[in-house]
Formats: sequence, C-alpha cells, structure tokens
Amino acid sequence: MNLSVQLAPRNQHGLLLANPVMTASGTFGYGTEYSHTFDIQKLGAIVCKATTLEPRDGNPQPRLAETSCGVLNSIGLQNIGVNALIKEKAPLWARWQVPVIVNIAGETIDQYAKIANELDGVAGISAIEVNISCPNMRAGGAEFGANPKSAAKVTAAVKAATSLPVLVKLTPNTSDIAKVAVAVAEAGADAISLINTLKGMVIDITRRRPLLGNITGGLSGPAIKPAALYMVYEVAGAVELPIIGCGGITTASDAIEFIMAGASAIQVGTASFANPRAPLDVLEGIEQFMKKEGVKDIAELIGAARR
Ligand code: SIN
Repeated sequence: MNLSVQLAPRNQHGLLLANPVMTASGTFGYGTEYSHTFDIQKLGAIVCKATTLEPRDGNPQPRLAETSCGVLNSIGLQNIGVNALIKEKAPLWARWQVPVIVNIAGETIDQYAKIANELDGVAGISAIEVNISCPNMRAGGAEFGANPKSAAKVTAAVKAATSLPVLVKLTPNTSDIAKVAVAVAEAGADAISLINTLKGMVIDITRRRPLLGNITGGLSGPAIKPAALYMVYEVAGAVELPIIGCGGITTASDAIEFIMAGASAIQVGTASFANPRAPLDVLEGIEQFMKKEGVKDIAELIGAARR
C-alpha cells in the first residue's frame, strides 16, 4: 500500500510524507516529549509548538478549560523563541527520519518574515507552517488570518524570506474561509492547513467571572469536527493546493472523512492529550481501512467524497 503524500509539489525542496498523519501544533510539544510513548518516527510529520521571534511566557492562568466535548485554551503562544529552537531542538530533529515542520507566529508581518528567514536552511527543519490563526494574541495571529488581504501579505512576506515549503494555517473565525484560502494560494503558499481553534469562552458561575485568565480561548476537540470538515470541503473546492485537515480528529474514521473531503494529510491535535498514542492509532486505523477496502494508494481516497 502506498500512503505517501507530497504536500509541496511546487516547492524546490518538496515536502514528501511517508503517510498523511501529522501532529497539530501546540499539542505535541517539540516531538521529544512524546518519543517515549510510541515510535514517533512512524508518523508522516510532526508540527511543533508555535514559535515567535522572542521567547514568550504566554497568557495569565488559568489557560485551559475542559468543555463537554472539547477543550478551550488560551496559552498565548508560550514558547522558547526561534533562536533557542534552532540551537536546542533542530539538531535533534536533524537525526530524525520524520520531517519536522515549525509553526511560526508573529504580531507583525516583519516578525513572520524574520522568523522564516532564520529558519531557512536549518538542518532538521522541513517546512514552515504560518500561524495566522491563533485567537489568543492581543495583536497579530488570527487578526491576519481573518482577512484575505492581510493573510496574503503575511504569506507573501514569508515566501520571500525562505525557500522552505510554506503551509499556511487558517482560522475558522472569519466570514469566508475559502476567500482567505484563495488569497493565500495566490500569494504563493505551498499548502494550506485548516482549521485552528474556534474562539469561545467559559464562565465560572460561582465567581461570576470568565474562567480563563485571558477571558476567551480557542475551542478544539470533537466539538469542532463537523465545522472543520465542512471548511476543509469548502477550501478543497476553492484552491488547487494540497490541504491539510485538522479539527477534532480522534479516530481513523474521522481522519478518512477529512481525506475524502479533499485533505491530502491530516493533523491529530487535542486527541493526543487524552491518548498520547492517538496519532499512531489513527495511522494504523487508516492502514486497516485501506486493507479492508482494497485501497492500494491513499490518493484513491483523497477527495473521494467530492467526485
Ligand atoms: C496558543 O498558544 O495560544 C494557541 C496557539 C494557536 O491557537 O495557534
């Protein structure tokens, strides 16, 4: 069976994955944290926690709230910054067989471009995922992704700053995600990932106050799966680029739905919190499904529900 997928066919380096199962940014650390739980080298790709130009402490606590079928986070991009990532993490990744993709975020377009430039040519880094979708920042992040023009500007600036394949991660917190996707594609993105979290909140009724320190957060987990699936379907019909589906994927059958909607690859996110092996379980489930259905190549399933 062939499970390999090419996510950056137009890029000089390409981004060939052995299989379509990736981890979602912010749910799998730098990969190293999970390496004792299963053989992470079996995955298609690992996307690390969002990285900013300077280290960040993140938002005030509490930053996590469980909901009935998902979780709200308002981490606020706590991370070690791009220089420490290059010094401390990339040398480890360079010894791995699984490609590592660095998710980058910024408050200004210039910051995105600077990070992309720092990452260019660093051994161990296979691609960049541009995070214009984090709902937990005072400036930048999802502000850029909510609007086709600003989304295109960030994409073009990052593309000009690096030769690495550039994936752009979209926010569902916009009126027309397909328009944003088209703008990002025209600005030169190599692939599009979607969706990031849906903005939400929880109120602590005893304190009569919002529960999260940042008041609002981003909702992820099974609660958002049908919305994410619909948006993947919409975007796959609007652009020619490879799509990476994300949002509440917990099982292999969730993943196959996204692939049939038009995603060439998928990201497992929140499911890893409850089951650290979730990405591998999803991969093994996809393989079992292909065997059972007599599918020889994953390409037969990509967009199958659209034909
Ligand atoms: C966060 O760090 O606040 C979450 C990151 C994201 O939503 O992209």
